[in-house]
Amino acid sequence: MARIIDGKKTAQDIKDEVKQAVSELTKNGRSVTLAVVLVGDDPASAVYVRNKKKACEYCGIVNRQINLPADTSEEELLQLIDQLNRDDSVNGILVQLPVPPQIDGQKVIQAISPKKDVDGFSPISVGALSIGLPGFRSCTPAGIIELLHRYDIQTQGAECVIVGRSNIVGKPMGMLMLRENATVTIAHSKTKNLQEVCRRADILITAVGKPKMFTRDYVKEGAAVIDCGMDRDENGRLCGDVDFGDVSPIASCITPVPGGVGPMTVAMLMKNCVEAISLQQD
Ligand code: GUN
Repeated sequence: MARIIDGKKTAQDIKDEVKQAVSELTKNGRSVTLAVVLVGDDPASAVYVRNKKKACEYCGIVNRQINLPADTSEEELLQLIDQLNRDDSVNGILVQLPVPPQIDGQKVIQAISPKKDVDGFSPISVGALSIGLPGFRSCTPAGIIELLHRYDIQTQGAECVIVGRSNIVGKPMGMLMLRENATVTIAHSKTKNLQEVCRRADILITAVGKPKMFTRDYVKEGAAVIDCGMDRDENGRLCGDVDFGDVSPIASCITPVPGGVGPMTVAMLMKNCVEAISLQQD
């Protein structure tokens, strides 16, 4: 039976480490401030933003929350970002995505200073990650690396198959696993023989958004299985991309949903906010 990778506990450990680091900074007269911008009233985004605020409060990070109406223009949002970029008291800037349709999300991401891009979404951050320069790492993939390290899962020389090629998870995950000396395959909806490809994996990472798609037919015995899905099953219950009940008897370790990868994302955001201080000092 697979070892369960407890993302909730690991995220708590990381938040405790961040809290300690923030408290050291505070003793030296420094504070850490994250500006969170929410445009409109998408209920899912409001929940994410509230979770980020709670995590900031726990860690001692100042949360500057800016709520803008749904009809905010692109120009207005870009002006606000410019203002936050110039404000030395702001260390991290996060614009909750998606933004309303009149605003180009990519333009917004590119407007955030790479030194404050705690989401790690800007082309500069992504490029820096690709060639091993200092910069912010996208929070979900960075959280998965933390889980692999803290659970002593061997990455060097491991066959890692990532399913999903999004800019937020799949692609940066591939770059980070390369840095870990894994042999990386990024599979996606057009990949041929997906089951066969996945069965090669010592580490299988799924990020497709299809409830319980990955049954044991996709998994090699003894593989580590990391599930980034946040899906709903036929009864409306939260589940992952992996059929946990079917796969856990044959995997060596597995992340549950909820309580696996999910809580790590916010914890890594907090960690990035502290890292922003050193990036801004250089
Ligand atoms: N929307 C869904 N996930 C995220 C995230 O990690 N960051 C931002 N900014 N928006 C999101």
